Amino acid sequence: MADPQVSRRSLLEGAGVALAAGTAGFVGFLALGPAPEQDDDTSGEGPDGDGGQDSHFLAAVDDIPDGGGVVLSDDKLVLTRDGDTVRCFTAVCTHQGCLVAGVQDGQIRCPCHGSAFDAATGAVVRGPATEPLEPEEIEITDEGEVLRA
Ligand code: FES
Repeated sequence: MADPQVSRRSLLEGAGVALAAGTAGFVGFLALGPAPEQDDDTSGEGPDGDGGQDSHFLAAVDDIPDGGGVVLSDDKLVLTRDGDTVRCFTAVCTHQGCLVAGVQDGQIRCPCHGSAFDAATGAVVRGPATEPLEPEEIEITDEGEVLRA
């Protein structure tokens, strides 16, 4: 169900937002309006009305190596990046539940028994895991922040 990839371009098209220049590098888009910028205890700041409490900062796009990724141990998520496209998957290996250790050569790798998953799709590329990593929804702000959707 969840789209495993969030492409800035596709989100822009989906939101119907036409930006005159593609020169900004990071083009933002949030379909739901202002997103929380910090996960501090500053409640009552924004009248969400939508119950967007699950949305929180995961990483800056700039901090995700292009062609690689980062593992967010606390959130048990792995973010992968291919140019302008950032994807998010669970970091819990489908074999026996270890956290994946990193992204290298287009693969998300689990240190426990050597499983590897495609960084673009989450599909198994090497066992013993037999099930793919589940995609997780994310949003990217105008400022190039990756938020959990
Ligand atoms: S738990 Fe990841 S390969 Fe076994």
